[in-house]
Amino acid sequence: MKQWVYISDIAAHVGEEITLKGWLAGRRSSGKIHFLQFRDGTGFIQGVLGKGDASTEVFDLAGTLTQESSLELDGVVKEDPRSPSGFELGVTDVRLIHLTEEYPITRKEHGVDFLMDHRHLWLRSNRQHAIIRVRSEIEQAFRDYYYERGFVLIDSPILTPAACEGTSTLFETDYFGEPAFLSQSGQLYLEPACAAHARVYCFGPTFRAEKSKTRRHLTEFWMLEPEVAFAKLGDVCDLAEDFLVTVVARVLDRCGEELKRLERDTDKLANVTGPLPRITYTEAVDILQQAGNDFQWGGDFGAPDETVLGEKFDRPVMVTHWPAEVKAFYMERDPENPNLALGVDVIAPDGYGEIIGGGERMSNHDQLISQIREHKLPEAAFQWYLDVRKYGSVPHGGFGIGLERTVSWICGLKHVRETIPFPRMLNRLYP
Ligand code: 4AD
Ligand code: MG
Repeated sequence: MKQWVYISDIAAHVGEEITLKGWLAGRRSSGKIHFLQFRDGTGFIQGVLGKGDASTEVFDLAGTLTQESSLELDGVVKEDPRSPSGFELGVTDVRLIHLTEEYPITRKEHGVDFLMDHRHLWLRSNRQHAIIRVRSEIEQAFRDYYYERGFVLIDSPILTPAACEGTSTLFETDYFGEPAFLSQSGQLYLEPACAAHARVYCFGPTFRAEKSKTRRHLTEFWMLEPEVAFAKLGDVCDLAEDFLVTVVARVLDRCGEELKRLERDTDKLANVTGPLPRITYTEAVDILQQAGNDFQWGGDFGAPDETVLGEKFDRPVMVTHWPAEVKAFYMERDPENPNLALGVDVIAPDGYGEIIGGGERMSNHDQLISQIREHKLPEAAFQWYLDVRKYGSVPHGGFGIGLERTVSWICGLKHVRETIPFPRMLNRLYP
Protein backbone atom coordinates (compact mmCIF):
# COMPACT_ATOMS: atom_id res chain seq x y z
CA MET A 1 0.00 0.00 0.00
CA LYS A 2 1.09 3.55 -0.68
CA GLN A 3 1.30 6.18 2.06
CA TRP A 4 -2.14 7.07 3.46
CA VAL A 5 -2.59 10.83 3.25
CA TYR A 6 -5.43 13.20 4.17
CA ILE A 7 -6.70 15.55 1.47
CA SER A 8 -5.94 18.48 3.80
CA ASP A 9 -2.24 17.55 3.60
CA ILE A 10 -2.13 16.78 -0.09
CA ALA A 11 -0.16 19.87 -1.14
CA ALA A 12 2.95 18.24 0.37
CA HIS A 13 2.61 15.19 -1.91
CA VAL A 14 2.47 16.62 -5.44
CA GLY A 15 3.90 14.08 -7.88
CA GLU A 16 3.73 11.20 -5.40
CA GLU A 17 1.51 8.16 -5.63
CA ILE A 18 -0.50 8.04 -2.41
CA THR A 19 -3.60 6.42 -0.86
CA LEU A 20 -6.76 8.29 0.16
CA LYS A 21 -9.47 6.74 2.35
CA GLY A 22 -12.97 8.13 2.23
CA TRP A 23 -16.30 8.23 0.47
CA LEU A 24 -17.59 8.88 -3.01
CA ALA A 25 -19.49 12.17 -3.02
CA GLY A 26 -20.46 11.82 -6.69
CA ARG A 27 -19.41 10.32 -9.99
CA ARG A 28 -19.54 11.25 -13.66
CA SER A 29 -18.61 8.56 -16.14
CA SER A 30 -18.19 8.34 -19.88
CA GLY A 31 -17.14 5.19 -21.70
CA LYS A 32 -13.49 6.10 -21.40
CA ILE A 33 -13.14 8.05 -18.20
CA HIS A 34 -14.55 8.20 -14.65
CA PHE A 35 -14.55 11.44 -12.65
CA LEU A 36 -14.77 10.49 -8.98
CA GLN A 37 -15.77 13.28 -6.57
CA PHE A 38 -14.11 12.10 -3.42
CA ARG A 39 -14.18 13.31 0.17
CA ASP A 40 -12.26 12.05 3.17
CA GLY A 41 -13.63 14.33 5.88
CA THR A 42 -10.70 16.74 5.64
CA GLY A 43 -11.49 17.94 2.13
CA PHE A 44 -12.76 17.23 -1.35
CA ILE A 45 -10.81 16.22 -4.46
CA GLN A 46 -11.61 14.93 -7.92
CA GLY A 47 -10.11 11.59 -8.93
CA VAL A 48 -9.70 10.95 -12.65
CA LEU A 49 -9.55 7.37 -13.89
CA GLY A 50 -9.08 6.80 -17.61
CA LYS A 51 -9.34 3.47 -19.34
CA GLY A 52 -5.81 2.07 -19.27
CA ASP A 53 -4.81 3.94 -16.08
CA ALA A 54 -5.60 0.80 -14.09
CA SER A 55 -6.65 -2.79 -14.72
CA THR A 56 -9.92 -3.44 -16.60
CA GLU A 57 -11.47 -4.84 -13.37
CA VAL A 58 -10.67 -1.62 -11.51
CA PHE A 59 -11.98 0.56 -14.34
CA ASP A 60 -15.22 -1.46 -14.49
CA LEU A 61 -15.56 -1.39 -10.68
CA ALA A 62 -15.29 2.41 -10.71
CA GLY A 63 -18.25 2.50 -13.10
CA THR A 64 -20.46 0.73 -10.56
CA LEU A 65 -19.61 2.91 -7.55
CA THR A 66 -22.59 4.59 -5.91
CA GLN A 67 -22.81 7.83 -3.94
CA GLU A 68 -21.37 7.49 -0.40
CA SER A 69 -19.73 4.14 -1.02
CA SER A 70 -16.55 3.91 1.05
CA LEU A 71 -13.30 3.38 -0.78
CA GLU A 72 -9.57 3.53 -0.83
CA LEU A 73 -8.14 5.33 -3.83
CA ASP A 74 -4.54 5.13 -4.96
CA GLY A 75 -3.32 7.80 -7.32
CA VAL A 76 -0.78 10.41 -8.27
CA VAL A 77 -1.32 13.92 -6.87
CA LYS A 78 -1.39 16.60 -9.57
CA GLU A 79 -1.67 20.34 -9.27
CA ASP A 80 -4.80 21.63 -11.00
CA PRO A 81 -5.48 25.34 -10.73
CA ARG A 82 -8.99 24.88 -12.20
CA SER A 83 -10.23 22.66 -9.38
CA PRO A 84 -11.56 24.27 -6.16
CA SER A 85 -9.07 22.27 -4.09
CA GLY A 86 -6.17 23.15 -6.40
CA PHE A 87 -5.36 19.46 -6.88
CA GLU A 88 -6.52 16.40 -8.76
CA LEU A 89 -5.78 12.70 -8.27
CA GLY A 90 -4.70 10.59 -11.24
CA VAL A 91 -6.27 7.35 -10.00
CA THR A 92 -4.28 4.12 -10.33
CA ASP A 93 -6.30 1.77 -8.11
CA VAL A 94 -9.72 1.65 -6.41
CA ARG A 95 -10.54 -0.66 -3.51
CA LEU A 96 -14.18 -0.83 -2.51
CA ILE A 97 -14.74 -1.06 1.26
CA HIS A 98 -18.53 -0.85 1.36
CA LEU A 99 -21.03 -0.38 -1.44
CA THR A 100 -23.84 1.99 -0.47
CA GLU A 101 -27.34 1.25 -1.72
CA GLU A 102 -29.63 4.19 -2.43
CA TYR A 103 -28.17 6.98 -0.33
CA PRO A 104 -31.18 9.03 0.78
CA ILE A 105 -29.67 12.50 0.25
CA THR A 106 -29.19 13.12 -3.45
CA ARG A 107 -28.46 16.16 -5.55
CA LYS A 108 -32.14 17.02 -5.85
CA GLU A 109 -33.77 19.47 -3.46
CA HIS A 110 -34.90 17.97 -0.17
CA GLY A 111 -37.31 19.53 2.36
CA VAL A 112 -35.93 20.70 5.67
CA ASP A 113 -37.83 18.08 7.69
CA PHE A 114 -36.39 15.32 5.54
CA LEU A 115 -32.89 16.69 5.96
CA MET A 116 -33.35 17.10 9.72
CA ASP A 117 -34.59 13.50 10.00
CA HIS A 118 -31.40 12.50 8.21
CA ARG A 119 -29.17 14.87 10.13
CA HIS A 120 -26.73 12.01 10.86
CA LEU A 121 -26.13 11.75 7.09
CA TRP A 122 -26.73 15.39 6.17
CA LEU A 123 -23.58 16.23 8.18
CA ARG A 124 -21.56 14.78 5.28
CA SER A 125 -22.85 17.36 2.80
CA ASN A 126 -20.58 20.11 1.56
CA ARG A 127 -22.31 23.05 3.28
CA GLN A 128 -22.88 21.22 6.55
CA HIS A 129 -19.25 20.14 6.52
CA ALA A 130 -18.15 23.76 6.18
CA ILE A 131 -20.49 24.99 8.94
CA ILE A 132 -19.38 22.42 11.51
CA ARG A 133 -15.74 23.21 10.81
CA VAL A 134 -16.39 26.92 11.36
CA ARG A 135 -18.23 26.04 14.58
CA SER A 136 -15.23 24.03 15.75
CA GLU A 137 -12.89 26.95 15.04
CA ILE A 138 -15.19 29.39 16.86
CA GLU A 139 -15.35 27.11 19.90
CA GLN A 140 -11.57 26.90 19.99
CA ALA A 141 -11.32 30.69 19.58
CA PHE A 142 -13.77 31.08 22.50
CA ARG A 143 -11.71 28.84 24.77
CA ASP A 144 -8.34 30.22 23.71
CA TYR A 145 -9.39 33.83 24.26
CA TYR A 146 -10.05 33.25 27.94
CA TYR A 147 -7.35 30.68 28.56
CA GLU A 148 -4.66 32.92 27.06
CA ARG A 149 -5.74 35.82 29.26
CA GLY A 150 -5.51 33.87 32.50
CA PHE A 151 -9.22 33.22 33.11
CA VAL A 152 -9.85 30.03 35.10
CA LEU A 153 -12.28 27.48 33.67
CA ILE A 154 -15.11 26.66 36.07
CA ASP A 155 -17.35 23.80 35.00
CA SER A 156 -20.76 24.78 36.25
CA PRO A 157 -23.33 22.07 37.07
CA ILE A 158 -25.98 20.88 34.63
CA LEU A 159 -28.40 19.73 37.34
CA THR A 160 -29.48 22.74 39.39
CA PRO A 161 -31.93 23.45 42.19
CA ALA A 162 -33.29 26.77 40.88
CA ALA A 163 -33.82 29.02 37.86
CA CYS A 164 -31.33 31.58 36.58
CA GLU A 165 -33.14 32.99 33.57
CA GLY A 166 -36.82 32.87 34.52
CA THR A 167 -39.01 29.97 35.53
CA SER A 168 -40.99 29.72 32.28
CA THR A 169 -38.28 27.92 30.31
CA LEU A 170 -37.11 25.38 32.90
CA PHE A 171 -36.68 21.73 32.03
CA GLU A 172 -37.64 19.83 35.16
CA THR A 173 -36.38 16.40 36.07
CA ASP A 174 -36.76 14.15 39.09
CA TYR A 175 -33.75 14.16 41.40
CA PHE A 176 -34.40 11.31 43.87
CA GLY A 177 -37.86 12.61 44.65
CA GLU A 178 -36.92 16.30 44.55
CA PRO A 179 -37.37 18.53 41.50
CA ALA A 180 -34.17 19.52 39.71
CA PHE A 181 -33.73 21.67 36.62
CA LEU A 182 -31.37 21.53 33.68
CA SER A 183 -29.08 24.55 33.77
CA GLN A 184 -30.20 27.65 31.86
CA SER A 185 -26.87 29.40 32.49
CA GLY A 186 -23.72 28.83 34.55
CA GLN A 187 -23.68 32.43 35.73
CA LEU A 188 -24.91 31.93 39.29
CA TYR A 189 -22.04 29.49 39.86
CA LEU A 190 -19.46 31.73 38.24
CA GLU A 191 -20.24 34.57 40.64
CA PRO A 192 -18.93 32.77 43.75
CA ALA A 193 -16.07 31.34 41.66
CA CYS A 194 -14.90 34.81 40.61
CA ALA A 195 -14.49 35.68 44.30
CA ALA A 196 -12.10 32.72 44.43
CA HIS A 197 -10.25 33.21 41.11
CA ALA A 198 -10.90 36.84 40.03
CA ARG A 199 -11.54 36.00 36.36
CA VAL A 200 -13.42 32.84 35.43
CA TYR A 201 -15.44 31.35 32.59
CA CYS A 202 -17.56 28.36 31.79
CA PHE A 203 -18.50 26.83 28.48
CA GLY A 204 -21.09 24.15 28.22
CA PRO A 205 -24.54 23.09 27.12
CA THR A 206 -27.49 25.03 28.50
CA PHE A 207 -31.15 24.18 28.31
CA ARG A 208 -34.28 26.21 27.85
CA ALA A 209 -37.75 24.86 27.28
CA GLU A 210 -38.40 27.45 24.57
CA LYS A 211 -41.89 26.93 23.28
CA SER A 212 -41.36 29.36 20.43
CA LYS A 213 -40.47 28.13 16.97
CA THR A 214 -38.06 30.76 15.68
CA ARG A 215 -34.91 30.65 13.63
CA ARG A 216 -32.89 31.73 16.68
CA HIS A 217 -34.04 29.34 19.39
CA LEU A 218 -32.81 25.91 20.36
CA THR A 219 -33.81 24.06 23.52
CA GLU A 220 -30.23 22.87 24.02
CA PHE A 221 -27.48 25.30 23.09
CA TRP A 222 -23.90 26.05 24.06
CA MET A 223 -23.00 29.17 25.95
CA LEU A 224 -19.66 30.60 26.96
CA GLU A 225 -19.82 32.85 30.00
CA PRO A 226 -17.00 34.94 31.51
CA GLU A 227 -17.34 36.53 34.96
CA VAL A 228 -14.95 39.10 36.44
CA ALA A 229 -14.62 40.34 40.01
CA PHE A 230 -14.59 44.16 40.35
CA ALA A 231 -15.90 44.57 36.78
CA LYS A 232 -18.44 47.35 36.27
CA LEU A 233 -20.79 47.57 33.29
CA GLY A 234 -18.20 49.44 31.18
CA ASP A 235 -15.59 46.74 31.85
CA VAL A 236 -18.06 44.07 30.79
CA CYS A 237 -18.71 45.96 27.54
CA ASP A 238 -14.96 46.36 26.91
CA LEU A 239 -14.43 42.63 27.39
CA ALA A 240 -17.33 41.67 25.13
CA GLU A 241 -16.06 44.04 22.44
CA ASP A 242 -12.46 42.84 22.45
CA PHE A 243 -13.58 39.21 22.60
CA LEU A 244 -15.98 39.50 19.63
CA VAL A 245 -13.47 41.40 17.50
CA THR A 246 -10.76 38.81 18.27
CA VAL A 247 -12.99 35.83 17.47
CA VAL A 248 -14.22 37.26 14.16
CA ALA A 249 -10.66 38.12 13.07
CA ARG A 250 -9.50 34.60 13.89
CA VAL A 251 -12.32 32.96 11.93
CA LEU A 252 -11.66 35.24 8.94
CA ASP A 253 -8.00 34.28 9.16
CA ARG A 254 -8.49 30.52 9.47
CA CYS A 255 -11.81 29.66 7.84
CA GLY A 256 -11.58 31.50 4.53
CA GLU A 257 -12.11 28.33 2.52
CA GLU A 258 -15.21 27.33 4.51
CA LEU A 259 -16.72 30.83 4.41
CA LYS A 260 -16.19 30.84 0.65
CA ARG A 261 -17.99 27.52 0.33
CA LEU A 262 -20.84 29.04 2.34
CA GLU A 263 -20.83 32.09 0.06
CA ARG A 264 -20.51 34.35 3.09
CA ASP A 265 -19.87 38.01 2.29
CA THR A 266 -16.67 38.34 4.32
CA ASP A 267 -16.39 42.10 3.74
CA LYS A 268 -19.21 42.47 6.23
CA LEU A 269 -17.29 40.45 8.80
CA ALA A 270 -14.14 42.45 8.13
CA ASN A 271 -16.08 45.51 9.42
CA VAL A 272 -16.16 43.97 12.86
CA THR A 273 -13.37 46.01 14.40
CA GLY A 274 -13.48 48.06 17.58
CA PRO A 275 -14.83 50.23 18.90
CA LEU A 276 -18.30 48.73 18.59
CA PRO A 277 -21.16 51.21 18.85
CA ARG A 278 -22.67 51.54 22.33
CA ILE A 279 -26.14 52.95 22.84
CA THR A 280 -28.57 52.98 25.73
CA TYR A 281 -31.90 51.20 25.64
CA THR A 282 -33.57 54.62 25.53
CA GLU A 283 -31.56 55.57 22.44
CA ALA A 284 -32.47 52.22 20.89
CA VAL A 285 -36.16 52.98 21.45
CA ASP A 286 -35.68 56.32 19.65
CA ILE A 287 -34.15 54.48 16.70
CA LEU A 288 -37.10 52.10 16.57
CA GLN A 289 -39.63 54.92 16.78
CA GLN A 290 -37.83 56.93 14.09
CA ALA A 291 -37.96 53.84 11.89
CA GLY A 292 -41.75 54.04 12.17
CA ASN A 293 -42.05 51.26 14.72
CA ASP A 294 -44.68 51.94 17.42
CA PHE A 295 -42.46 50.45 20.14
CA GLN A 296 -43.13 51.82 23.65
CA TRP A 297 -40.39 52.49 26.21
CA GLY A 298 -40.40 49.72 28.80
CA GLY A 299 -40.92 46.69 26.61
CA ASP A 300 -38.41 44.02 25.65
CA PHE A 301 -37.18 43.90 22.07
CA GLY A 302 -38.64 41.19 19.90
CA ALA A 303 -36.87 39.68 16.91
CA PRO A 304 -38.25 42.31 14.45
CA ASP A 305 -37.06 45.15 16.73
CA GLU A 306 -33.60 43.60 16.97
CA THR A 307 -33.51 43.33 13.21
CA VAL A 308 -34.27 47.05 12.82
CA LEU A 309 -31.56 47.93 15.36
CA GLY A 310 -29.05 45.56 13.78
CA GLU A 311 -29.64 47.13 10.38
CA LYS A 312 -28.74 50.62 11.67
CA PHE A 313 -25.13 49.53 12.23
CA ASP A 314 -22.54 47.71 10.15
CA ARG A 315 -21.17 45.81 13.13
CA PRO A 316 -22.57 44.45 16.40
CA VAL A 317 -24.16 47.11 18.60
CA MET A 318 -24.19 47.11 22.41
CA VAL A 319 -27.40 48.19 24.11
CA THR A 320 -27.10 49.14 27.80
CA HIS A 321 -29.23 50.54 30.67
CA TRP A 322 -32.44 48.54 30.37
CA PRO A 323 -35.74 48.92 32.18
CA ALA A 324 -35.24 46.65 35.20
CA GLU A 325 -38.59 44.90 34.67
CA VAL A 326 -37.52 43.25 31.41
CA LYS A 327 -34.27 41.91 32.84
CA ALA A 328 -33.38 39.11 35.26
CA PHE A 329 -33.60 39.44 39.06
CA TYR A 330 -29.82 39.58 39.58
CA MET A 331 -29.05 42.74 37.57
CA GLU A 332 -27.41 45.70 39.32
CA ARG A 333 -29.40 48.93 39.25
CA ASP A 334 -28.15 52.20 37.79
CA PRO A 335 -27.24 54.37 40.82
CA GLU A 336 -28.54 57.39 38.88
CA ASN A 337 -31.88 55.79 38.06
CA PRO A 338 -32.86 52.71 40.05
CA ASN A 339 -35.51 51.80 37.47
CA LEU A 340 -32.71 50.93 35.07
CA ALA A 341 -30.71 47.70 35.12
CA LEU A 342 -27.00 47.77 34.25
CA GLY A 343 -27.36 45.10 31.59
CA VAL A 344 -25.94 44.87 28.11
CA ASP A 345 -27.22 43.02 25.07
CA VAL A 346 -25.08 42.79 21.96
CA ILE A 347 -27.12 42.69 18.77
CA ALA A 348 -25.53 41.36 15.59
CA PRO A 349 -26.13 43.03 12.22
CA ASP A 350 -28.19 41.64 9.33
CA GLY A 351 -31.06 40.30 11.39
CA TYR A 352 -29.09 37.84 13.51
CA GLY A 353 -30.36 39.45 16.71
CA GLU A 354 -29.00 39.18 20.24
CA ILE A 355 -25.83 37.13 20.48
CA ILE A 356 -24.64 38.30 23.92
CA GLY A 357 -26.52 39.08 27.12
CA GLY A 358 -24.89 40.17 30.37
CA GLY A 359 -24.10 43.06 32.67
CA GLU A 360 -23.20 44.02 36.20
CA ARG A 361 -24.62 41.90 39.04
CA MET A 362 -26.42 43.18 42.08
CA SER A 363 -23.85 43.20 44.89
CA ASN A 364 -25.94 44.36 47.86
CA HIS A 365 -27.31 41.50 49.96
CA ASP A 366 -30.58 43.07 51.12
CA GLN A 367 -31.43 44.50 47.72
CA LEU A 368 -30.86 41.07 46.17
CA ILE A 369 -33.10 39.34 48.72
CA SER A 370 -35.89 41.74 47.91
CA GLN A 371 -35.43 41.01 44.19
CA ILE A 372 -35.57 37.26 44.82
CA ARG A 373 -38.80 37.79 46.77
CA GLU A 374 -40.26 40.10 44.14
CA HIS A 375 -39.59 37.51 41.43
CA LYS A 376 -41.20 34.86 43.68
CA LEU A 377 -38.09 32.70 43.51
CA PRO A 378 -37.51 30.04 46.23
CA GLU A 379 -35.37 31.92 48.75
CA ALA A 380 -34.01 28.77 50.37
CA ALA A 381 -32.51 27.59 47.08
CA PHE A 382 -30.55 30.87 46.79
CA GLN A 383 -28.89 31.02 50.22
CA TRP A 384 -25.50 30.05 48.80
CA TYR A 385 -25.87 32.71 46.08
CA LEU A 386 -26.71 35.33 48.69
CA ASP A 387 -23.56 34.35 50.61
CA VAL A 388 -21.50 35.90 47.80
CA ARG A 389 -22.99 39.24 49.01
CA LYS A 390 -22.33 38.47 52.69
CA TYR A 391 -18.60 37.83 52.67
CA GLY A 392 -16.51 40.46 50.94
CA SER A 393 -19.09 41.48 48.36
CA VAL A 394 -17.62 43.30 45.36
CA PRO A 395 -19.02 44.71 42.14
CA HIS A 396 -18.75 42.06 39.45
CA GLY A 397 -20.15 41.22 36.08
CA GLY A 398 -19.93 39.18 32.94
CA PHE A 399 -21.95 37.94 30.03
CA GLY A 400 -23.04 34.90 28.08
CA ILE A 401 -22.52 34.41 24.37
CA GLY A 402 -24.63 31.89 22.52
CA LEU A 403 -22.40 29.72 20.34
CA GLU A 404 -25.05 28.76 17.81
CA ARG A 405 -26.26 32.32 17.19
CA THR A 406 -22.65 33.38 16.76
CA VAL A 407 -22.02 30.58 14.25
CA SER A 408 -25.24 31.43 12.45
CA TRP A 409 -24.19 35.07 12.10
CA ILE A 410 -20.57 34.39 11.11
CA CYS A 411 -21.60 31.75 8.56
CA GLY A 412 -24.54 33.84 7.31
CA LEU A 413 -27.18 31.12 7.86
CA LYS A 414 -30.93 31.45 7.89
CA HIS A 415 -31.55 29.21 10.89
CA VAL A 416 -29.61 28.07 13.97
CA ARG A 417 -30.61 24.45 13.38
CA GLU A 418 -27.68 24.03 10.97
CA THR A 419 -25.09 25.35 13.43
CA ILE A 420 -25.09 22.41 15.86
CA PRO A 421 -24.41 18.78 14.93
CA PHE A 422 -27.67 17.41 16.39
CA PRO A 423 -30.14 20.22 17.11
CA ARG A 424 -32.76 20.05 19.83
CA MET A 425 -35.84 22.15 19.22
CA LEU A 426 -39.51 22.34 20.19
CA ASN A 427 -40.47 19.53 17.80
CA ARG A 428 -37.18 17.73 17.45
CA LEU A 429 -35.41 15.17 19.62
CA TYR A 430 -34.47 12.81 16.75
CA PRO A 431 -31.87 11.75 15.74
O1 4AD B 1 -29.31 36.65 27.45
P1 4AD B 1 -29.20 35.32 28.12
O2 4AD B 1 -30.45 34.68 28.60
O3 4AD B 1 -28.18 35.56 29.30
C1 4AD B 1 -27.85 34.66 30.27
O4 4AD B 1 -28.15 33.49 30.30
C2 4AD B 1 -26.92 35.22 31.31
N1 4AD B 1 -27.09 34.46 32.55
C3 4AD B 1 -25.51 35.13 30.78
C4 4AD B 1 -24.50 35.76 31.70
O5 4AD B 1 -24.58 36.94 31.96
N2 4AD B 1 -23.53 35.01 32.16
O6 4AD B 1 -28.46 34.30 27.15
C5 4AD B 1 -27.18 34.61 26.64
C6 4AD B 1 -27.08 34.26 25.18
C7 4AD B 1 -28.04 35.01 24.29
O7 4AD B 1 -27.56 36.30 23.97
C8 4AD B 1 -28.10 34.10 23.07
O8 4AD B 1 -26.95 34.28 22.25
C9 4AD B 1 -28.01 32.74 23.69
O9 4AD B 1 -27.44 32.89 24.97
N3 4AD B 1 -29.33 32.11 23.81
C10 4AD B 1 -29.80 31.18 22.97
N4 4AD B 1 -29.27 30.60 21.88
C11 4AD B 1 -30.01 29.65 21.25
N5 4AD B 1 -31.22 29.25 21.65
C12 4AD B 1 -31.80 29.79 22.76
N6 4AD B 1 -32.98 29.38 23.16
C13 4AD B 1 -31.09 30.81 23.46
N7 4AD B 1 -31.33 31.55 24.57
C14 4AD B 1 -30.26 32.33 24.75
MG1 MG C 1 -30.79 37.86 26.73
